[in-house]
Amino acid sequence: MPEIRSRAARLAAEYISRGTFDAVELVTEYVADHAVNLMGLPESARPELVARAAAMFDMFGPDNARYREAAPIAAAMMTFLGTEVSRDTVRSGSWMHALYQAADAGDIAEDDVVPLMSAYTTAGMDTTIHGITAALHHLAHHHRYYKELRAGRLGAAAVFEEAIRLDAPIQGFGRRARRDTRIDGTRIRAGERVWLSFGSSGRDPRRWGSFADTFRPGRTGGDLHLALGFGPHACAGRHLALAQASSLLDALAHYGTRLEPAGDPVRARNNILHGWATLPLTITPDRRRTTPPSSSTT
Ligand code: HEM
Repeated sequence: MPEIRSRAARLAAEYISRGTFDAVELVTEYVADHAVNLMGLPESARPELVARAAAMFDMFGPDNARYREAAPIAAAMMTFLGTEVSRDTVRSGSWMHALYQAADAGDIAEDDVVPLMSAYTTAGMDTTIHGITAALHHLAHHHRYYKELRAGRLGAAAVFEEAIRLDAPIQGFGRRARRDTRIDGTRIRAGERVWLSFGSSGRDPRRWGSFADTFRPGRTGGDLHLALGFGPHACAGRHLALAQASSLLDALAHYGTRLEPAGDPVRARNNILHGWATLPLTITPDRRRTTPPSSSTT
């Protein structure tokens, strides 16, 4: 956590000093840093992850042009992980090192190392980038909440949870029904495929009330959304995603008095991901705050 907070403080100060910046560029650099430094991938993996990780999500289908374009990109990503990442190139003591240790101890098969590596590295890239940039987009349009965050009256985690409730970075995943069932009057037979829509569940007025479409961080039960999944296969990286988001939002609020849009954002295109490809922002620097937030220096 101190490592994440100090990286957040360094990048926040640097990007704010540029005046206008692209929040997607900032957050991508930040999240990729963690893939390399915390997860222990070699530095050569950084451009691979930035350029190719989203293709893994296009591979969830449907079988459209985007899916077909993504297939060779996702295959190249797996080849990269299988050839360039090895026992010798991962950092000792890192998550990826732990995978090789598990294979050496016989706890997992050697063939499982690369798919597991991919599950952790790609699952944690564009999802987290979209979640944090969604939070920044909403804060830029709701100055009141930015002020509350800055004053310590609103927690960064609540801002992030509300942003991913409204703009679920993974819009949905497929499931296969194991038995006949009925949901809301619709009959589903065993073996049928269904679409679990995390995105629409976050905007369901039966759950979130008449302000379901409104950004209201800090609402009661605001973390009880499905954007991070649910049940035994819920997001394994939830705590890391929250730590990354909270640290960066806190650092930006620490150094900047005002967060504003600085141009039209552009949507990213993906079969199941939802987020921004570019998000121009301006943060007015707080000239009195030239040192990092106290928790970033520990
Ligand atoms: C805002 C950021 C993130 C979002 C929105 C997100 C979303 C999700 C969702 C919806 C699932 C459930 C999939 C299902 O039900 O089939 C999931 C699973 C998973 N996530 Fe995340 N995730 C995020 C960040 C991360 C990070 C940072 C990591 C890794 C460091 C990660 C690793 C995983 C893994 C390994 C699984 C599979 C768990 C299993 O099948 O048991 N995720 N994530």
